[in-house]
Amino acid sequence: MARRNWNRVFVTGGTSFLGLRVVTALIELGADVTVLVRPENEDKLGALRRHVRLAPGNVWDRASLKGRSRGHGAVVHLVGSIHAQPERGLTFQQLNLVSARNAVSMAVSDGVPYFVLLSAVARPLGVPAEYIYSKREAEDYLRSSGLVWTIVRAPLVFDAGQRRSAPFKALNAIGGLPLVRVLTGRRTPLPVEVAARGIARLVLQEELPASRRVYAGDLRRLGRLRRQKAPRDRAPWLSRPAHRDLPGDEPADEAPFGWLPGPPKEE
Ligand SMILES: NC(=O)c1ccc[n+]([C@@H]2O[C@H](COP(=O)([O-])OP(=O)(O)OC[C@H]3O[C@@H](n4cnc5c(N)ncnc54)[C@H](OP(=O)(O)O)[C@@H]3O)[C@@H](O)[C@H]2O)c1
Repeated sequence: MARRNWNRVFVTGGTSFLGLRVVTALIELGADVTVLVRPENEDKLGALRRHVRLAPGNVWDRASLKGRSRGHGAVVHLVGSIHAQPERGLTFQQLNLVSARNAVSMAVSDGVPYFVLLSAVARPLGVPAEYIYSKREAEDYLRSSGLVWTIVRAPLVFDAGQRRSAPFKALNAIGGLPLVRVLTGRRTPLPVEVAARGIARLVLQEELPASRRVYAGDLRRLGRLRRQKAPRDRAPWLSRPAHRDLPGDEPADEAPFGWLPGPPKEE
């Protein structure tokens, strides 16, 4: 059987608030990351643009996904939203279910064995129930796909650096207390960096894990694990040349990348 490229990861939704952090965490952990991105939104990746492979495509255009994830060890699907815009055809079904269905089909036809789906534990206050229904339908679709899966039922995530996140920070601190954790732990908001590192660790598993759902507590535990060593010391693949865009195999035009993504280099 062919060896699984477990550290080659295909990400959808890598330009979102959470997605950018997940991509960063994956790179920090030594992954070789491909990001599906709509060409007009490439700039949203900022400095990360130089440290990932780009797969131009649109998650709702199945033809644009064909073969994109071939050779990867895992697909992590982060496309989705808590904001529907039905007037633009962006219903919750379209955003959360159809996108997941297309990404799962891509992984199946490309022979990717492992799929990580970002779902949600509950609908946030003020968000219609259709949001969570569409997430649950996406979960059902993945579970019946034959892939090995991890479903991340994430709580709300917040930017701990923002002053307006103070109430979330307080909830997060209280939610970490043992008794409260038992009662409300799954819904306790998490700092986005903790959630992102937790997701990255769930994605990067050398051995295929058993399929399972994970919740805030798992993300909190995994996301708070300390880094052991800089990956440059332990992961020889980090000294490879910088990534190239897909498709095409043109020579890379810049130096190897380091531990944390830095600003883009001048052309
Ligand atoms: N925010 C939270 O607290 C929270 C909590 C639990 C779960 N989640 C989940 O996290 C995910 C992201 O949520 P968010 O609020 O950060 O959403 P968002 O800001 O609306 O981001 C959506 C992401 O999907 C991408 N996308 C949308 N349409 C696409 C298309 N046609 N083709 C390719 N990519 C497309 C967007 O890329 P572009 O840059 O091209 O638009 C963007 O990266 C969702 O699945 C959400 O349910 C969020």
